[in-house]
Amino acid sequence: MYILPTINIKQIAAAEESTPFFFYDLNLLKSTLERAAESSGKYGFEVHYALKANSNPEILRAISTVIKGADCVSGNEVLAALQHGFKPEKIAFAGVGKTDMEIDIALENNIFSLNVESVQELEVINQRAGLAGKKAPVALRLNPGVNAKTHHYITTGLEENKFGINPWELEKVLEVLKKLRNIELTGIHFHIGSQITNQDPFRSLALRANEFNHWFRKKGIYLKHINLGGGLGVNYQQPDTESIPDFESFFRLFADVLELLPGQTVHFELGRALVAQCGTLVSKVLYVKSGINTNFVILDAGMTELIRPALYQAYHKIENISHPEAPTITCDVVGPICESSDCFGKAILLPQPERGHFIAIRTTGAYGEVMSSNYNLRSKASAYYLEY
Ligand code: LLP
Repeated sequence: MYILPTINIKQIAAAEESTPFFFYDLNLLKSTLERAAESSGKYGFEVHYALKANSNPEILRAISTVIKGADCVSGNEVLAALQHGFKPEKIAFAGVGKTDMEIDIALENNIFSLNVESVQELEVINQRAGLAGKKAPVALRLNPGVNAKTHHYITTGLEENKFGINPWELEKVLEVLKKLRNIELTGIHFHIGSQITNQDPFRSLALRANEFNHWFRKKGIYLKHINLGGGLGVNYQQPDTESIPDFESFFRLFADVLELLPGQTVHFELGRALVAQCGTLVSKVLYVKSGINTNFVILDAGMTELIRPALYQAYHKIENISHPEAPTITCDVVGPICESSDCFGKAILLPQPERGHFIAIRTTGAYGEVMSSNYNLRSKASAYYLEY
């Protein structure tokens, strides 16, 4: 059972003008990373941290001491990974729209793989690699047609999504590849979606990966690595009872189902599962006002700091850390932004909030700070860290 260090948080929050801020518990982060490294290490699987979940430099430094690989989706993420301790030979670079400049960054730094999502992209990488006098290590991102059954905005493994190469294009891709002399096909890559809390989609993915692996073998192509992407979900409802995701079952499933050829390495790109629970968005109640059938609790944090509820109707646990014992009231917890979607929780029960109380919005270490904006010309929230 995890206990949010509210004493430390309240000390920081009491400082003038400090809220809203992101609070990161680096102890929890470290335990999470170690658990992931241990569970994956048992099977020799390699984990690449998906920087898109949180690219705060302190967090990146902490992660790169335990997790050796990185998964990037922009040239700047590749550069940030390199700057904060990840080795080039452990960096994967994905994304449907890599610019020429981003491809050049990847080539200059001799990264592990460029995960390619279309025939045209292959041709461009071949051309850029030619100019650089290099051979580009490429993994084909394949669309496995597996439904991740998560929010439709974060489902990526279906034909209707913009991601990956569809199986019916594969013959053509191999024809094209034969002519591209500056490309080395090193592996295949998948990513079916995010916040997946049920094992079935992962089982289907592992089975599909086996089919593809055999298909390539029959064509006389040996793949050095199979990259299964990320997607492992976290418990937003009960962040304290499940502060560390069940990495053990996740990796065991793949170890049980995958049929590998000798020497093939297996890679994962975990983002959310590694960082979500260590982050908390801390805010202050500005005003409480009564509406029709509800009370509006207006915070100094809004969708500018955490857009997930507005964008995906995502649930984040909200706590009154100033007066956790107060009698509860039903309220809508909202931000100050001029949008009705700027709402963190509708009709929720909260220990009676009053002006000046501190409110913790939990599980915001992933896709919180990175997706923040300065809409309404708001200042960027600060970040504070706890480390023993
Ligand atoms: N690999 C690829 C190719 C990805 O596109 C993603 C996430 C990951 C790995 C990491 O997935 P994770 O392990 O974090 O599930 N903003 C959304 C999530 C978007 C995920 C995009 N891709 C959210 O707040 O829920």
